[in-house]
Amino acid sequence: MNDQTLLNIIAAALEGRHIDLLKEVEKFYVELRENGEHELACLIAEKLKNINCKQTGIPEVLIHEGITDAGMPLHSGNYADYWDQLTDILPPDEATGQKQPEMHIKQFEFLVNECKLKTDELFLDIGCGSLRGTRLIVSYLNRGCFHGMDVSKKLLAYARQRVAENPEMAEKEPKFAHDDRFRFSKIFPGIAYNFAFAKSVMTHLFPESIWDCLVQLRRVIKPEGVFYSTIFKDNKVNVYRGDTRKTWYNTEWLKETAELSGWSLDEIGETRVGQYMCLFRPI
Ligand SMILES: C[S@@+](CC[C@H](N)C(=O)[O-])C[C@H]1O[C@@H](n2cnc3c(N)ncnc32)[C@H](O)[C@@H]1O
Repeated sequence: MNDQTLLNIIAAALEGRHIDLLKEVEKFYVELRENGEHELACLIAEKLKNINCKQTGIPEVLIHEGITDAGMPLHSGNYADYWDQLTDILPPDEATGQKQPEMHIKQFEFLVNECKLKTDELFLDIGCGSLRGTRLIVSYLNRGCFHGMDVSKKLLAYARQRVAENPEMAEKEPKFAHDDRFRFSKIFPGIAYNFAFAKSVMTHLFPESIWDCLVQLRRVIKPEGVFYSTIFKDNKVNVYRGDTRKTWYNTEWLKETAELSGWSLDEIGETRVGQYMCLFRPI
């Protein structure tokens, strides 16, 4: 069966609201993602995107991934395009998360009170976005200690502007850099970090990018350093499900991947930051 025939069958299933067939589509979709066949998976998502899932009873996995929510930009296969596109249609803080005005305070309390982040520690904010969540950390740390990186140049421009407009942040001289493959040692050469943080970033990454991030970060973390990262957990899938809009991971796979790249992984679970928190330590 070629891709077009398959897509036509899916379209017919949708027309007739054949729920059993849709369940098969769901299984097939998850398999495609797991096998790395993102292009075909995106085509299926495209076919499904204008259907109102709640009325039609389309399987949950497709609802969760926003595939059927009309209006959500489709994953284009390129992280920068996706986040830039969202930033074009939403204010930057909304493009990078939900509207939770107090979220950055909770995040600050978690990092400082619970994780014991010290003012003189070198801090790497992976996928820093607009600084929606870490703006108080910029002001808290000593001058030059905050380093933020992101794949979206538009979000980085917003982060820089936010700093320029705020004297308390500006005097801390945070550094920002763009990269699309987590090449930390290249974008911030000669630095070893005490503390790395990724809020709501692994929740949007494919497995190969998680690997890149862990391998590259392992090269620049101090032996006693820590890496806190949030994920969405789903141990019912083999590896992961979802796409750039949202990804869920099997933590057994994540633990093995961490160990292969030189990290231990502790599942902290729910925290005041929201999402499911993981703590990686170099081994
Ligand atoms: C949901 S937002 C969270 C932003 C920020 N951490 C926060 O909590 O406000 C996800 C961020 O990850 C960034 N991102 C996604 N894929 C990335 C990649 N491969 N490399 C670096 N940053 C990435 C996006 O551009 C975006 O800023």
